Amino acid sequence: ETPAPAASAPVAAASAPAPAPAKVYVVGTDAAYAPFESENTQKEIVGFDIDVVKAVAQKAGIEVKFVNTPWEGIFNTLAQGDRDLLVSAITITDERKQTMDFSNPYFDAQQLIAVKANSKVTKFDELKKLKVGVQTGTTGDEVVTKLQGKTSANIKRFESTPLALKELESGGVDAVVADNGVIINYVTNNSGSKFKTVADKAFQNEQYGIAVKKGNADLLGKINKGLADIKADGTYDKIYAQYFGA
Ligand code: ARG
Repeated sequence: ETPAPAASAPVAAASAPAPAPAKVYVVGTDAAYAPFESENTQKEIVGFDIDVVKAVAQKAGIEVKFVNTPWEGIFNTLAQGDRDLLVSAITITDERKQTMDFSNPYFDAQQLIAVKANSKVTKFDELKKLKVGVQTGTTGDEVVTKLQGKTSANIKRFESTPLALKELESGGVDAVVADNGVIINYVTNNSGSKFKTVADKAFQNEQYGIAVKKGNADLLGKINKGLADIKADGTYDKIYAQYFGA
């Protein structure tokens, strides 16, 4: 990526005005959420969400750049104009729709429970009195807070989902509730047989959307058009198969 010229750079006395540089849309993402977004060993941000937005941007004819942005406060970066777009496995909720606009859904998800392999937990209700780890401010946090109550001391909130899962490994919590894709990825890749997952029909269906600042209809239109295009021409399916199998 080319750094923008410093504001103080001398301006050549050219006769013709230089063409305006293409706008680069800044995309915020909490890149600790494999396989949706994570940093590889070269510190590049990679994942399903990243590939989707890159493909969408290509169709829409816009340039994008991804900036790792902590989940806590990620929505503020949009409101403040520091980010033009957010892609971060963000569940579209009525509450969030008050303060930002979402693209059409691009992925279906659901909460899933991770427990130690020898755990006796078989359903969500049984987490009522147990220590549960969640990522602060996620839909996982919301469902567990609803189950245990706002003042419960048994909810352990972490700034990232991997930190919550590490706590499960060390025994600091009895369970973690988070999006199915990220839990399955972690259990499969990091901890093998130490963990198992527990699904529950009580969990509602969730859908991920790409967020823009409230009222940014121009950009949202481009994103929705790009999404429709990559779904229509098979690009989306190819990306999906790459991460989640056919
Ligand atoms: N889908 C959940 C939510 O919207 C969790 C998303 C967390 N994403 C992340 N990149 N950490 O609340």
